[in-house]
Amino acid sequence: MSTIPDASGAGSVDPNLDFAGTTPYEDYVQADVLTHLQHPLSDDPGEMVFLVTTQVMELWFTVIVHEWETASRALREDRLPVAMDALKRSVRELEALNHSWRPLSQLTPAQFNAYRSALGEGSGFQSAMYRRMEFLLGEKSASMLVPHKAAPRVHAELEKALYQPSLYDEVLRLLARRGLPIPQDVLDRDLSQKYEPSPVIEETWAGIYADQDQNGELVRLGEALTDIGELVWRWRNDHLVATRRAMGSKTGTGGSAGVAWLEKRARKNVFPELWTARSHV
Ligand code: HEM
Repeated sequence: MSTIPDASGAGSVDPNLDFAGTTPYEDYVQADVLTHLQHPLSDDPGEMVFLVTTQVMELWFTVIVHEWETASRALREDRLPVAMDALKRSVRELEALNHSWRPLSQLTPAQFNAYRSALGEGSGFQSAMYRRMEFLLGEKSASMLVPHKAAPRVHAELEKALYQPSLYDEVLRLLARRGLPIPQDVLDRDLSQKYEPSPVIEETWAGIYADQDQNGELVRLGEALTDIGELVWRWRNDHLVATRRAMGSKTGTGGSAGVAWLEKRARKNVFPELWTARSHV
């Protein structure tokens, strides 16, 4: 190993420089792979940050899916503290995800137009990892698999996620195991369908929240889910506003009506009864 003397000449406390192969950092992080995955489609210098922000968001989606799958498994095994740790980590990760809108939040139509046509029909709508997030939130839809029919691995992962219980399904099953009223038809629901709110479950959450002392653990679970719901709502709305600023009411590259379509998506709340129950506590 080579050492370089420090400025005082008192021997080396400097990092190692010499490695037999690639650096251990590279072996772990694969930074060389990661930093050579940027292939802009236009000559516009502003496209790079659009591409990298999208890639950064894909990485956050991946981490968040990992946390919610960890939490779902832990809930299934009645390990609530493990689930809570994963949910709380995901709240901070969602905050980081949402902050990554900043570089794109004030794009003008002329700036976006400089590379928009190069994107062709490419759209975030086709993000499979975002779709897995939505499936875990209960927003299931078999038609969302169609764009991925030519990508076997992606399609298989999404299909598996479609038929698995969402994070909220696991929460409701845990409440049922603890003797709280959860309708049997909700527990037996077709998991590949979008979750529909239930008045009985709204009452169950209202009951949990009405007695914080008795139900501390479940209130904390409800609040972690509410934090997630709020931050997902914020992501959708930040996306909506950035889109409105960048392209007004033009149609999307993915073929939708654009802002009008996103407005409809952004109006929904995930974990619906956790919001409506608040009127009855
Ligand atoms: C300012 C830049 C952006 C604009 C103008 C924009 C525009 C749009 C539009 C119009 C749609 C609707 C589908 C379509 O017709 O294309 C959409 C969907 C979507 N975009 Fe973006 N987008 C932007 C940035 C991003 C970024 C950085 C991401 C990160 C991955 C992203 C992820 C998504 C996702 C996941 C959807 C589907 C949403 C859903 O299914 O509810 N977008 N975008």
